[in-house]
Amino acid sequence: MSAPTLYQPYAHFVKQANLRGLEDYQAISQWAQENSADFWAFQANRLLSWQRPFATALNDSQAPFFKWFEEGQLNASFNCLDRHVLAGRGGKTALIFEADNGQVKKLTYTQLLAKTCQIANALKQLGVEKGDRVIIYLSVSIEAIASMLACARIGAIHSVIFGGFSTTSVYDRIVDMQAKLIITADVQMRGGKPTKLKAIVDEALLLGPCPSVKHVLTVERTSDTTSYQAGRDVTFKEWVEPQKDQCDPVWVDSEHPLFLLYTSGSTGKPKGIQHATAGYLLHAALTTDWTFDYKPSDIIWTTADIGWITGHTYALYGPLCLGSTQMIFEGIPTYPHSGRFWEIIQRHKVSVFYTAPTAIRSLIKLNESNLDEHPKNYDLSSLRLIACAGEPINPAAWEWFYQHVGGGRCPLLDTFWQTETGGQVLTPLPGVTPLVAGSCTLPFPGIDACVVDETGAEVPHGVAGLLVIKKPWPALARTIWGDAERYKNSYFPDNLGGTYYLAGDGAVRDPATGYFTITGRIDDVLNVSGHRMGTMEVESALVSCTDWVAEAAVVGRPDETTGEAICAFVVLKGARPEPQEAERIAKLLRDHVGKMIGPIAKPKDIRFGDNLPKTRSGKIMRRLLRSIAREEPITQDISTLENPAILQQFQTLRT
Ligand code: PRX
Repeated sequence: MSAPTLYQPYAHFVKQANLRGLEDYQAISQWAQENSADFWAFQANRLLSWQRPFATALNDSQAPFFKWFEEGQLNASFNCLDRHVLAGRGGKTALIFEADNGQVKKLTYTQLLAKTCQIANALKQLGVEKGDRVIIYLSVSIEAIASMLACARIGAIHSVIFGGFSTTSVYDRIVDMQAKLIITADVQMRGGKPTKLKAIVDEALLLGPCPSVKHVLTVERTSDTTSYQAGRDVTFKEWVEPQKDQCDPVWVDSEHPLFLLYTSGSTGKPKGIQHATAGYLLHAALTTDWTFDYKPSDIIWTTADIGWITGHTYALYGPLCLGSTQMIFEGIPTYPHSGRFWEIIQRHKVSVFYTAPTAIRSLIKLNESNLDEHPKNYDLSSLRLIACAGEPINPAAWEWFYQHVGGGRCPLLDTFWQTETGGQVLTPLPGVTPLVAGSCTLPFPGIDACVVDETGAEVPHGVAGLLVIKKPWPALARTIWGDAERYKNSYFPDNLGGTYYLAGDGAVRDPATGYFTITGRIDDVLNVSGHRMGTMEVESALVSCTDWVAEAAVVGRPDETTGEAICAFVVLKGARPEPQEAERIAKLLRDHVGKMIGPIAKPKDIRFGDNLPKTRSGKIMRRLLRSIAREEPITQDISTLENPAILQQFQTLRT
């Protein structure tokens, strides 16, 4: 496909973003809006290496199940590795890994390709074939990244599970995706504390029948006694290290699933979001190129765990597809001290720093109370761009990040996106979009975002409504694994016409600038420290504690550090506990939720009552619970409430 001529003049300005302004952005966005398929086709040819060219950009004949770049064939690992090596850039550093204990290891593109090939050969030998699902239950590490690329190399579908998820979550995902193989490690280290990942996998495999799992492949980091089951369990040492470091990539169709990533929705069951190889990779590369105004000399550090979409798109696929150097870090921002992030930026000369508002908020508190660990004590002059994602950033945190980390000279980009969108969809472009604290500004070119009411009609600027994306874009998730119906109903609801992508967030646009501000989720999804968590998921975990819990309801409340905090309202099987007993039971319940989902899901507040506030028809009145959780006076109409006395109980007994 030939390049659309109108686009050409603008290829220059985005690369030279600091020189040109909003007018150019508007021109390219308008062009992309009117010629959407051509815009993406042009970018796909510019940024990806194709084994077989695609014939059409978009096939929307079965909307909302869109297909992009049909008849094209490619391989994501080839795009992220081989082509840079073939172009003579194999000696460039691909990954700089810093372990929790400070040890540093660097890998060039040639070395990362070799490692990827070795793992790919091991997977093949262990019976993994194109289309098989492979779970990667590893923390941020060279092995995690090489394993993801190894899956992509042989056409297997990877699904990374965040190392903070526990046994039941791992088991549920194994069963849902019918995983064939699990890659894990004996331990992961975070904040000086080991988590025995392999032991969690062992336990998960005992929770119920998992006949799909043929092997567990373990990275051995310690000589600790990890139990191995003969026939099933194998190690990197035995199976990966002896392998050849070459492995031909398997060319896959554009639409071939690259990965599944489970995320929370409004029902109790996390959903396996499925991304397609070409469309996802393209958006990852294009947004890295433009939003980060990529330069070959960059050292990009996306601090997100590899178990989240931000880790996938901006610590791996986007930057590696462009041939950049990535900083990756195993640990946490506060260990061994709260200057750790700044120390890493200084030590490795990070130029693009992409993190989460929650990390910034917690560091403000710690750094301001211990000035030795304050960013001003570190040389952060290598930074040229800073960015955040995952949750709203409040203006005070924005300002601190901008002034103290960015030195008042680096653009600070508040980027909005989701697991389902594959990459950034609302974001400033550096030097192009005037920045406003608290706003993710404008859509990325090619993203047709707007704010509508419940009928799908666009609302005027200044009026809050639902955030939708009107036209498909290549990185839109293709489906929910095994549940196409749920995909259609959740994201393309009939009341909006059935073709608009419903993000699940509310938004409002500024009357003067058209800038978007996200007002928060419109469903029962909470955002705790940037982690998505369904209230139903936590409720299900609580009521599964059948010895104690009769009923539970969960809502969110604002929290200064974590953004939102989980508040649980619990009715016990026995009598309502006295305060001391309440403390003990609350701890037990928190531990139970931690074991069922993971520590991030532990409710911050637990309140006990004899019953939940319900209407006479038995519906839980969550808006009342929200008011109690926020410690606001109850001003709502409670005339339909069956049992008003219990409001008082919940208001008083909190642990
Ligand atoms: O509520 C929005 C919030 O995070 C959700 C998506 O979470 P997840 O699928 O984990 O993807 C994270 C990728 C960054 C959204 O529905 N969110 C994400 N970015 C922002 C945000 N809320 C406000 N401002 C943002 N910049």
